[in-house]
Amino acid sequence: MTPSWRRSVEVSGPKPHLVLVGMMGSGKTSVGELLARRLGRPFLDSDRQVEERAGRSVAELWAAGGEAAFRDLESEVLAQALGPDTPVVVAAAGGVVLDPANRRLLGERAWVVWLRARPETLAQRLGTGAGRPLLADDPPGALRRLEAVRRPLYEEVADAVVDVDCLSPEAVVARIVELV
Ligand code: S3P
Repeated sequence: MTPSWRRSVEVSGPKPHLVLVGMMGSGKTSVGELLARRLGRPFLDSDRQVEERAGRSVAELWAAGGEAAFRDLESEVLAQALGPDTPVVVAAAGGVVLDPANRRLLGERAWVVWLRARPETLAQRLGTGAGRPLLADDPPGALRRLEAVRRPLYEEVADAVVDVDCLSPEAVVARIVELV
């Protein structure tokens, strides 16, 4: 399997944004911050935006309104982030690809990079999964199951893929900059 690839796309016009997708623990936030600085663009993190909007943490929101309440806000902040034409870098939450409308929007408005990691890598990075409701019991098992379901969805939306298992955030940024 090649460690990184890209589809040929125009990163301009109606697709001005760059969005990082991938599982929890794949490094979207740390890579996104560095990448945004490197590209001189504003950086938006989906979970932080959801928390600002809800006035509480992801875990609190999830406990109060269930996954559905969280997913609604997740979709809202994605649409808000990708609406304006000024290019931004977005770290999308891991589950953003579950909603077909989100996948369509990504296809229309963003150049999407999938930070692909093996479930073992994710489990090692996330430990007990604190603050992540989907990992409450058995984080390694949950990560394996979620990754299997989502892999085809990440693949569907991705314009490029970087295998991040052995790469530092700085090295991932360098790889993305080569691909853009
Ligand atoms: C989730 C990923 C988390 C957070 C929530 C649900 C998911 O975000 O949105 O715990 O469904 O994969 P990160 O991918 O930023 O960790």
